[in-house]
Amino acid sequence: MTPTLVTNRNESAGRAAYLPFGEKRDGPLFNQHILSVKQFSPRDLAAVMAVADEMRLMVERVGAFDLLQGKAMAALFYEPSTRTSASFIAAMQRLGGGFIPINQVRYSSVAKGESLPDTIRTLEAYADVIVLRHPETGSAALAAQFARKPIINAGDGIGEHPTQALLDLFTILHERGKIDGATVTMLGDLKYGRTVHSLARLLARYDVKLNYVAPALLRMPREVMDELNAHDIRQTETAALENVLGETDVLYVTRIQKERFADLAEYEAVKDSYVITPATLTRAKQDMVLMHPLPRVGEISPAVDDDPRAAYFRQVEYGMYVRMALLAMVLGKA
Ligand code: NCD
Repeated sequence: MTPTLVTNRNESAGRAAYLPFGEKRDGPLFNQHILSVKQFSPRDLAAVMAVADEMRLMVERVGAFDLLQGKAMAALFYEPSTRTSASFIAAMQRLGGGFIPINQVRYSSVAKGESLPDTIRTLEAYADVIVLRHPETGSAALAAQFARKPIINAGDGIGEHPTQALLDLFTILHERGKIDGATVTMLGDLKYGRTVHSLARLLARYDVKLNYVAPALLRMPREVMDELNAHDIRQTETAALENVLGETDVLYVTRIQKERFADLAEYEAVKDSYVITPATLTRAKQDMVLMHPLPRVGEISPAVDDDPRAAYFRQVEYGMYVRMALLAMVLGKA
């Protein structure tokens, strides 16, 4: 499907003509930290989507190329990750850059008690950009205060996961052709799930309706709902998917975030609240888009995977293009 977002492709092509080959350019996001979706202007969003499209074409045509040759990325992960860390590394590799993965912090000096600022100051001596995942909300912003190089927030506790939200936006755009007019239903752990906190805030820039389906314990935080109310976004809350499934264009399923519960008995009480099965999909729109940031731990039955509406593995692939775009833009090469 061809997306209908406007792009600034002509404009940047015009600018590029005046620059010697390999010269650093500025442009949206150049030299910026990526901490929250709140920082993105509509123009930035259009640019990220357009550059991600270009990355996709380039990967399809040539696989890898040397746009970021000579650049290095540090990937510092204090929490488990498969997709986010692997896709950032794959993105850097496809762009011809180097990477320093630190995902076993128990083997690094963090295990000796090194502070986050000192770890950041060290890694920026080796790398041009630092991708950080950390269990504390606000940790990426803290790191940014000490960093001379751009910090990319790859998840700060229950706070935000902006690069996931951008790839979710790219997925909706490509699966539906447009964002505007969509009814997006978020399901599962809306309290602790940082992906939905970022995605809800990002979707508030568009003409969308948001439904939140969660057990009472795991409702979308008031703070996020208040922010969206200020944008006049229609939001509804229910505990029953049936109440909103029929009108849903995008169903965004999330995992119950076991590791964030102080009381495991509470987790046990809500862990099997929702499971999407082929029977669920018989009651959904024929062209609904079923998404999940993954990992899933039972909330979408594998029996659903072959349904054309199941977009979660395509979503994984889109993630690499979006992260290629972000790296290229932050490093001034897009
Ligand atoms: C998510 C995360 O880490 O917040 N995973 C991801 O980055 N795709 C979702 C989750 O862990 O449930």
